[in-house]
Amino acid sequence: MKGLILSGGKGTRLRPLTYTRAKQLVPVANKPVLFYGIEAMVDAGIKELGIIVGDTKAEIMEAVGDGSRWGLKITFIEQSAPLGLAHAVLTAEPYLRDEPFVMYLGDNLILSGIRSLVDEFRNGSANAQILLAKVPNPEQFGVAELVDNKVVKLVEKPTEPQSDLALVGVYMFDKTIFQAAKRIHPSARNELEITDAIQELINMGFQVDPHVVRGWWKDTGKLEDMLEANRMVLDNQNSRILGNVDQYSQIDHKVVLEDGAQVVRSTIRGPAIIGAETQIIDSYIGPFTSIQHRCVIRKAEIEHSIILEQAMIENIAGRIEDSLIGRFVEVIKSPCKPRAFRLVLGDRSVVGML
Ligand code: G1P
Repeated sequence: MKGLILSGGKGTRLRPLTYTRAKQLVPVANKPVLFYGIEAMVDAGIKELGIIVGDTKAEIMEAVGDGSRWGLKITFIEQSAPLGLAHAVLTAEPYLRDEPFVMYLGDNLILSGIRSLVDEFRNGSANAQILLAKVPNPEQFGVAELVDNKVVKLVEKPTEPQSDLALVGVYMFDKTIFQAAKRIHPSARNELEITDAIQELINMGFQVDPHVVRGWWKDTGKLEDMLEANRMVLDNQNSRILGNVDQYSQIDHKVVLEDGAQVVRSTIRGPAIIGAETQIIDSYIGPFTSIQHRCVIRKAEIEHSIILEQAMIENIAGRIEDSLIGRFVEVIKSPCKPRAFRLVLGDRSVVGML
């Protein structure tokens, strides 16, 4: 069985970060979301993995490398334009050929992994297996209707959902999906929807098995989802202190301090992760915070936030919460008079002032 990870798309719901960076590379607990998918594939016994890339091809290729660190043979497959998930599958047909495959959307995160589901599909007779999860907002997903545990209907982002079962971004297919994907037409958002292709499989009389996932799952497309994913992953980590903590600092509860990180006269209350060579000085870092490598946090308080590499946060009077701060960002007390907020913000940045 081969693997296929989709890592194209524009990531409009995570702007402005995604103006300059692929959404799949935004980190959760200091690791790109995409790597969780790759690791889930490895855990499921996949040895050959195709990764669909688009506009952000160069940075995805640079971050992933040749796959040897996971013992994988990785092939990058370029999708000419973001024309939908079923279009991505068709683009990958020459790579996948007759082999069954697991498809994983590169911005999805499933905490319990996919090994048993992949085994079930390998050993069963279904043409496709879909994963479903109960969600409070089904209209934002593909939605499945089941009768006697059989899929009867699938609709992409229905305005009036007939169930609360959303399609999770992990699918297992055999080669019949190519026939189905060739028969469907673009949706209202001008994409070939995988949801429609699976519906077509059902119409054609092929076997599509549903599997309702009980564990935690998230599509990390939006800020709140990103922060929730960060919370879940941090809460499941064990403490590991590789950096330095001075005698005036205090570290409590599930904290990872990566190599060369320094904590000086500060309190870190986990779950939290502090990246390599980051300096935390005269500061408080509260629960559910991930700070990537080479950041400087001085005289600041941060909680429930994700801070990307080489950001600098200094001399801030209030507490920073629920925030996603990009690479090389500086949040510092304005040094010159008259006293004023001085902002240099990219398009679609969001600032919550006091
Ligand atoms: C896509 C699929 C949708 C599925 C979701 C899961 O949505 O089209 O059916 O429920 O992924 O993450 P998109 O992220 O393209 O809006």
